[in-house]
Amino acid sequence: MIATANSRSVSITGLGCHVPERVLSNADLEQLVDTSDEWIMTRTGIRERRIAADDEALSDLALPAAREALAQAGIEGSDVDLIIVATVTPDMMFPATAALLADQLGSTDAAAYDLSAGCTGFMYALAQAYGMVAAGLARRALVVGGDVLSKILDWTDRSTLVLFGDGAGAVVLEGVESGGFLGFELGADGAGGEHLWLPGSGSRAFDNPDGLVKMNGREVFKFATRVMIHSAEKILEACGRTIEDIDVYVPHQANVRIIDYAVNKLGIPPEKVVIDVDRYGNTSSGSIPLALADAAADGRLAPGGLVLMTGMGAGLTWGSALIEWTDDVRRQR
Ligand SMILES: CC(C)(COP(=O)(O)OP(=O)(O)OC[C@H]1O[C@@H](n2cnc3c(N)ncnc32)[C@H](O)[C@@H]1OP(=O)(O)O)[C@@H](O)C(=O)NCCC(=O)NCCS
Repeated sequence: MIATANSRSVSITGLGCHVPERVLSNADLEQLVDTSDEWIMTRTGIRERRIAADDEALSDLALPAAREALAQAGIEGSDVDLIIVATVTPDMMFPATAALLADQLGSTDAAAYDLSAGCTGFMYALAQAYGMVAAGLARRALVVGGDVLSKILDWTDRSTLVLFGDGAGAVVLEGVESGGFLGFELGADGAGGEHLWLPGSGSRAFDNPDGLVKMNGREVFKFATRVMIHSAEKILEACGRTIEDIDVYVPHQANVRIIDYAVNKLGIPPEKVVIDVDRYGNTSSGSIPLALADAAADGRLAPGGLVLMTGMGAGLTWGSALIEWTDDVRRQR
C-alpha cells in the first residue's frame, strides 16, 4: 500500500517515551547464556537493553510515555478521541491495552484499540491515525508503540535473547496549518511469517505451544536489508522527494548492521541517522518513537525538517512514513 497525503495537513504535535529502569548489559547476558560482549557488539551493535520488572506490563510503560506526549502537545487525555496501541505484548489479549490506557488518561470519548503488526506496528498505527484525523473522524489521536518482549523471549535461546529490550513511545497527531505527513508505504509478506513468530500464542493448535519467540535470524536479516531500501525508495518517489532532501533518517532499531547496510545503499550521510539500538536493543513497536524522542532531545527534529521513518518486523511486515516536522505553535485550534 502506498499513498501520499491529501490536502489536510496532519502532524505530530507531542512526543514522549518511557523505558524500564533495569539495565541488562552484555556482561549480564554472559552469565545467562553462552555468549560474549564481543559477539553481541560485532553482530548487532547492542551494548545494553532495558528489561521490565516482574510486575511491569506494557501499560506501565505506555502511560508515562502517553502523559509526556499529551503534555508536550498541551492537551489533556479528555481531548483525545482516538487511541491506538501498536504492540505484540499487550497487558492481556483483551481488553485492549489502548482501552486500559484510555481509562487511565481520562479519555472517555476516545475509540481505543490495539494493533498487531510486529515491530512495524508503530508505522501502521501512524498511518491509521493519520487517515482518521485527515478524514475528520478524529480530531486528536494518541498513537503508542511499545513492547515488553522480555516477557515472551526464550531466556535460554542466545540467538534471540541478546537482541531485544523493552520500551514504549507515544505521539499525538492532529491537524496543523502546513507540513506534517507527506505519505506512507506499508506492506506485508505472510509467506515469510514463520521466520519470526510466536507459535502457540493464539487459537491455532501447535504440537509444542511454548508461547515463546522463534526466529530465523538469517532470513529476517535478508528480508530487513531488502525492505529497508525498497520501502524508503518507494515513499520518496511517491512524494516527489529524493534522498538528498532527507534531514533525519529514523530506521527501526533492530541491529546496527541492518541500519548501516540501509544507510550505505541509500546514501544517507551518517550524521542524519538516528541510532540508539546500542542502548535499548530492539524494542519492537517502541523502537521508532524511542528513536524519534532521541532525535528530539539532541535538537535534530527542527520545524521544516524532512524526516524519513522505516520499520520492519514480524508478519513479515514493513512500513515507511515521510513527514515534514512541525512545531506546536502552528497547530490549528
Ligand atoms: C541474529 C543475527 C544477529 C545473527 O547474526 P549472524 O551473523 O547472521 O549469525 P549466524 O546466525 O550466522 O550465527 C553465527 C554463529 O553464531 C552463533 N550465535 C548465535 N547467537 C549467538 C550469541 N548470542 N552469542 C554467541 N554466538 C551466537 C550461532 O549459533 C552460529 O554458530 P554456528 O556457526 O556454530 O552455527 C542476525 O542474523 C540478525 O540480526 N538477524 C536479524 C534479526 C532481527 O533483526 N530480528 C528482528 C526483526 S524486527
